Amino acid sequence: MSKRVLVGYATGTGSTTGVAEAIGSALGERGYGVDVRPLGQVDSPAGYNACVIGSAVNAGAWLPAATDWMRAHAKALRTVPVAVFCVHGMNGGPDAKQTRKRLAYLDPVRAVLTPTGEGYFLGTGPTRADTGPLARWMFRTFGGTADGDSRDWAAIHDWAAGVAL
Ligand SMILES: Cc1cc2nc3c(=O)[nH]c(=O)nc-3n(C[C@H](O)[C@H](O)[C@H](O)COP(=O)(O)O)c2cc1C
Repeated sequence: MSKRVLVGYATGTGSTTGVAEAIGSALGERGYGVDVRPLGQVDSPAGYNACVIGSAVNAGAWLPAATDWMRAHAKALRTVPVAVFCVHGMNGGPDAKQTRKRLAYLDPVRAVLTPTGEGYFLGTGPTRADTGPLARWMFRTFGGTADGDSRDWAAIHDWAAGVAL
């Protein structure tokens, strides 16, 4: 029987949903039986052989819906392979400072479990169409790197195609 994998996610404004679906589709290509679900609709990880858990980043961390779910199910999650991902709009650059800040998004997750893999994907950032120049300047000044829809579908697919589960 094929391995059953949960791709559970939390989103604020929707961009993480597409990332989770893309991950689910790449895992399906690996032959797994995949359920892609908002974590609010997942009672428990029971019945899954592996999990991929991810969230949008707000204020430097996963959304509470994801962190709370992970903490509530920590015992069960420690018995299966769990890979995790972030969808973020800041600190997407390669330099040491941004890398350090990006990796820190998952500090609270690593305090609970040891992920088999970590994915960091740019989501959406403010655009000229939806945000004024001052707010866009502030976003860039505080490390904003996403510009509009910055989701890199090839990078998301590659990560999911290779992540250990
Ligand atoms: C209130 C708010 C706070 C945010 N804080 C951060 C942050 O601390 N770090 C970051 O990299 N991105 C931050 N972002 C950018 C989001 O992570 C990014 O827009 C992401 O694509 C949102 O995913 P979602 O559409 O699934 O909610 C923030 C966005 C909002 C609206």
